[in-house]
Amino acid sequence: MTGRTAVYGVIGDPVSHSFSPQIHAYFAELCGLDMAYVPFHVKGKNVGDAIRGAHALGIQGLNVTVPHKMAVMPYLSHIDAAAKQVGTVNTLLWKEDGYHGYNTDYIGILRSISALGMSFKGRSVAVFGAGGSAYAACIAAASGGAERIGIVNRTSENALALASHVNSHYNVDVREVTSPDIVIQTTTVGFGEMKDSSPVSSPGYFAGVQLAFDIIYTPWETVFMRQAREAGVPHVINGFPMLVEQAAAAFGIWHTDERLYAENFDEKIETLAKRFNAD
Ligand code: ATR
Repeated sequence: MTGRTAVYGVIGDPVSHSFSPQIHAYFAELCGLDMAYVPFHVKGKNVGDAIRGAHALGIQGLNVTVPHKMAVMPYLSHIDAAAKQVGTVNTLLWKEDGYHGYNTDYIGILRSISALGMSFKGRSVAVFGAGGSAYAACIAAASGGAERIGIVNRTSENALALASHVNSHYNVDVREVTSPDIVIQTTTVGFGEMKDSSPVSSPGYFAGVQLAFDIIYTPWETVFMRQAREAGVPHVINGFPMLVEQAAAAFGIWHTDERLYAENFDEKIETLAKRFNAD
């Protein structure tokens, strides 16, 4: 580091598991930038102080991870229109008047899908879950031109709240989807203590599905993904491409350039996936 090193970071609770520091260090190296990207463990009660302090210190950009993606919003001087639609912020950019907030999670979802040569246009999309990630998935699908969105969730009130949120921004048909083209799994079922479970009870559910996308990436292949693969779904992906894509979109906001996308972004994701799996 030098006296000119620009400082970026991520705030979350917990944050020690975050792979974002490795991703941004790699991007900085590729683009030849003099920057550091630091994990900051911030408790919920300290979010306001952390944002004010980071701004005073001149920290140029922050990512915001679970559980602070909504909590940071009152402390920002501007929130991008798309972030308002999603209802959460995961990227902050230092400006003189305060931080400006963006959401790159939904961009990560859109780019992971377009990297497969697919899009939401005219598609029936099933979204499992109604938490923060499901909001990003639904806004990605609606803004990408999905014809129909079905929300499947344990607690129906949460699904209804998400459905009405989507309909307050997009005139898309949100109701039960019986034969989806695309299924996006955003619940925590398949992760941690629930790693041996899937929200899908029968592999027959996947008949006709073109893309099964689980936003989990530990384990690398969830039970949901294995069921989809065994059912012959042509495209089955985990959440790692989305993780890298949302980071690249944040990097683009901070450094106002698209250098990362100049060539072979797929190879960059693969390099990072190897490093992630070696850790
Ligand atoms: P994130 O911000 O990552 O989306 P979240 O907001 O905590 O995480 O949302 C977790 C999602 O997983 C929710 O949709 C939750 O369902 P509820 O709305 O019913 O709480 C879902 N979920 C968590 N544990 C679950 C379980 N054991 N079975 C089914 N769904 C579960």
